[in-house]
Amino acid sequence: SSDNITTLLAGDRLLPVIILPDADQAEPLAAAIAAGGLHSIEVTLRTPSALDSIKRLAASSDLVVGAGTVLTPEQAERAVEAGARFVVCPGFSAAVVRRCQELSVPVFPGVATPTEIQMALEAGLTTVKFFPAEQLGGAPMVKALSAPFPGVRFVPTGGVTTANLAAYLALPAVLAVGGTWMVAADLLAAGDYAEITRRTAAAVAATRE
Ligand code: 3PG
Repeated sequence: SSDNITTLLAGDRLLPVIILPDADQAEPLAAAIAAGGLHSIEVTLRTPSALDSIKRLAASSDLVVGAGTVLTPEQAERAVEAGARFVVCPGFSAAVVRRCQELSVPVFPGVATPTEIQMALEAGLTTVKFFPAEQLGGAPMVKALSAPFPGVRFVPTGGVTTANLAAYLALPAVLAVGGTWMVAADLLAAGDYAEITRRTAAAVAATRE
């Protein structure tokens, strides 16, 4: 349910976003992230292997797996069929949100403006992705945007790193931050799971400072 992933994110305060070219890497990667101390993962539908990766993780991983970069209702459906337990979008699509609600799967649409936040509220949602966070003005922008929307929780993503995550997490309106920095493409290409665990653990430590 919606409570599961929201509760997990409230505890972890960190959502690793992955762009995975090779589904054979899904399990060792998830194990590396779990070893770093996290409990969920967003697999973006940006690679042909993404649905296969979601399927494998849903079947075998301890992590709660979600689908990211979901642009159409059909993609949402396929991701949920593959085992995704939450859906993340770069922007707000009423059609994607509706399909996720029909499927009873939590959906976090991306917002960048007050208008998009109002669209999310009208669709019955209270948790949104704020994307791309750093480029849109970072934590001060989230703070300003949150003022008129006291019930809304944000997951800022885009340009977030261990160095800047604390400014976001200090805001009561921020549920968690997301990003790809813990699972950088060069680390994946090298199969450097130890470094992925190290970076994940460093990020987790930063959320607690
Ligand atoms: C996303 O899809 O959420 C972004 O690509 C993540 O942004 P980042 O790569 O700057 O972390």
